[in-house]
Amino acid sequence: MKIIQCKDYDEISTAAANEVARVIREKRRPVLGLATGSTPVGMYEKLVRMYGKGELDFSGVTSVNLDEYYPISPDNVQSYRYYMNNKLFDRVNIDKNNTYIPNGNAADPYDECAKYDSVLDSLGKIDLQVLGIGRNGHIGFNEPDESLYLGTHVTRLSDSTVKANSRFFSEGEKIPDRALTMGIGSIFKADKIILLASGDSKKDAVKQVLSGKLTTSCPATLLNLHPDVTLICDSDAM
Ligand code: F6R
Repeated sequence: MKIIQCKDYDEISTAAANEVARVIREKRRPVLGLATGSTPVGMYEKLVRMYGKGELDFSGVTSVNLDEYYPISPDNVQSYRYYMNNKLFDRVNIDKNNTYIPNGNAADPYDECAKYDSVLDSLGKIDLQVLGIGRNGHIGFNEPDESLYLGTHVTRLSDSTVKANSRFFSEGEKIPDRALTMGIGSIFKADKIILLASGDSKKDAVKQVLSGKLTTSCPATLLNLHPDVTLICDSDAM
């Protein structure tokens, strides 16, 4: 695993945005695997700024997001569809028909997972996968467990994840405890992965990733098996 150690969050965001920008410029029809949560917010801001300056063209980009809460409507401000539209898709020239996020409103979540896997299969491969990391080491919403899934599946969020996500919800608002998430196998199909970690709440998870041990109780440790992963982190997360 390569490591880019950054001074602060702004530097992480710049380094991550530069990786994404490089893939967009190099590939004719780039496929980006995207993440939500607080960590990539700065990266999306920088990408929008590059687009505004005429430095990036998203017209050929296809994107697949890692996950979505379930059940949730795409126009709910807490949904990851809303997040992506708001932070990136509505602000650049991407064709929204080429942006994929599991449908949190699907009547049958298992059927939706199978459909999402068909989308991933039809895209072939992901050129660059952006990942955040959970405090408990989850990637996507592949939560620590005795076994993990290869493909897209319905997952119950751990208490620690629900607690961590509660910061995005107002008091009294129901915090989803289920999600549809890409599996570890799909994440591993990416040619290249960048793993972003900022702040000392990620320190324990990052320490496990760098410990040299692999364990499904910290799913991000499995990334050590992928041939091209770059950890982009600040000193607090190290
Ligand atoms: C989000 C996702 C999650 C987050 C993780 C870290 O699409 O897949 O794995 O990356 O929960 O979230 P933040 O960045 O909010 O700490």
